[in-house]
Amino acid sequence: MADLSPGGAPSSIVLVGMMGAGKSAVGRRLARRLGWDLLDSDHQVEDMTGRTVPEIWRADGEAAFRRLESQVLADALASTTPKVIAAAGGVVLGEGNRRLLGLHRPVVWLRAPLETLIARVRRGEGRPLLDDDPAGAMTRLEAERRPLYEEVADLVVDVDNDHPADWVTERIVQALGLSGASA
Ligand code: S3P
Repeated sequence: MADLSPGGAPSSIVLVGMMGAGKSAVGRRLARRLGWDLLDSDHQVEDMTGRTVPEIWRADGEAAFRRLESQVLADALASTTPKVIAAAGGVVLGEGNRRLLGLHRPVVWLRAPLETLIARVRRGEGRPLLDDDPAGAMTRLEAERRPLYEEVADLVVDVDNDHPADWVTERIVQALGLSGASA
């Protein structure tokens, strides 16, 4: 793995991982800790379109949503202001997105056990892919995506219910050599 300590200008930190891994919760804390902005992919898509993720999904379909998600990622990575980017869970599905993430450092994979993920997203909560059978969908998606998260990640942080988001945030700060930073 390449050196993750920011030598020159700091670069945005991208959080990837499955639904329920805690990208938004950790992203918020990490952004606060570093004094950076947080860009949450789903919120950005909703701000851009004035519609919720399920509304977009149902009216225009998954492919249209994925295009918006890709656009948000590309815009966020093109920005010169360092941010914490909480990417949406499905961002690794697009080959172009993976290529972009491959060029960017650091990409942090919040890796959680499947049981933890299922317990956290039990009721679907506005996530169209989980509407019918959340546990079954999560099992299938996790198997499909695990190799893709692995492909783009510069740093893997294991998360579970024993470790709160503050702890995970501190692990990331330490691993990236940002421990001197504070908001
Ligand atoms: C999705 C994840 C969701 C949201 C949409 C699809 C996915 O975001 O973009 O429901 O395909 O994994 P979070 O990962 O922030 O929950």
